[in-house]
Amino acid sequence: MRIRTAVVAMVVLALVALSGCGGAGSKAVKIAILAPLSGDVATFGQSTRDGAMLAIEEWNAKGGVDGATIEVVVEDSQCNAEAAVSAANKVIDQDGVKFIIGEVCSSASIPVSEIATSKGVLQISPTSTNPSVTVAEDGTTKSTIFRACFIDPFQGLVGAKFAIETLGAQTAAVFLDQGNDYVRGLAEVFIKEFEAAGGQVVVTESYTGDDQDFSAILTKVKDANPDVLYLPDYYNTVNLIAGQAQEKGITAVLMGGDGWDSADLDVSVVEGGYFTNHFSADDTRAIVQDFVSKYEAKYGARPDALAALAYDAATILLQSMDQANSVDPIKVAETMASGTFPVVSGEITYDASHNPVKSAVMLQVSGGQVIYTDTVAP
Ligand code: PHE
Repeated sequence: MRIRTAVVAMVVLALVALSGCGGAGSKAVKIAILAPLSGDVATFGQSTRDGAMLAIEEWNAKGGVDGATIEVVVEDSQCNAEAAVSAANKVIDQDGVKFIIGEVCSSASIPVSEIATSKGVLQISPTSTNPSVTVAEDGTTKSTIFRACFIDPFQGLVGAKFAIETLGAQTAAVFLDQGNDYVRGLAEVFIKEFEAAGGQVVVTESYTGDDQDFSAILTKVKDANPDVLYLPDYYNTVNLIAGQAQEKGITAVLMGGDGWDSADLDVSVVEGGYFTNHFSADDTRAIVQDFVSKYEAKYGARPDALAALAYDAATILLQSMDQANSVDPIKVAETMASGTFPVVSGEITYDASHNPVKSAVMLQVSGGQVIYTDTVAP
């Protein structure tokens, strides 16, 4: 009996030594931020990094989590599957990271979620709205994968209902990039919900991510003259398509989703358009205005939805580590799944698919500004 106790004590001591718990102040926990910092949608990555860093610095200033200082590894995962997969493998295998904030884009977050799942790493995407980020093909929830945003079935429903009920639209044209999980998924939901609400989709046209010239499919829109042209892509592609639509004299109201959210959205070509989003810096709630002033003081710019959601994703992760009293990703995931998080973009609790239940905002481009028009609850 005594021998067994001694053995157990030795094993415990060895484990403590291995995990580094012995040296006070020497503990650190690594978190990776994977985001597109260069390329076509670089504003997404920059806002994401800045939002997440603000939260992490605040937690480090009050002592870190579970007695550990937070160390950050930032990788440019470029909003694409290939770059994101190599960034995820690098941070996990070489840097020893067990917690990932990212990616921004669904087509990058989905393959990262598969790697994270197989390696027991916790991933929280701030902004990836495609359902397949957190749910596997067989319908089961990926146990260590989360997001801080709503999902596209909700975002597409809000857009379609707004088109019909508020704009009085009866007909719509929809453009989509079949190769982009976010764009394809959101387009499909919009079509389904617009028709379910009594509207008619008169033009559905596909393009590829490399296309620059949209005149052939825009001619079909010009001929059909729909009330709404739905463009559920990122701002760089929206700028191109909307510019060419304007040249063609298309008068349909342009609509889109969160992918429009960028300081580089060309407001002159989407004037009068509407898009669904996660957050408005004009929201008067105290938690929002407190975040907006801290962000402006640090970065000299107003935060967009990507910055707000990255701040929220980091907060949800760090609060979960703190409450779990652990930096074991499995334990932190369990705490996250059952927690309540009063964050900037709303009070978050997770449903069974690890999706937050939260509201969307509708924004309008008017007079060269992006203005808040409405909040829509699920
Ligand atoms: N929702 C987009 C996606 O899943 C990413 C995005 C979110 C882009 C918010 C801009 C703003 O790919």
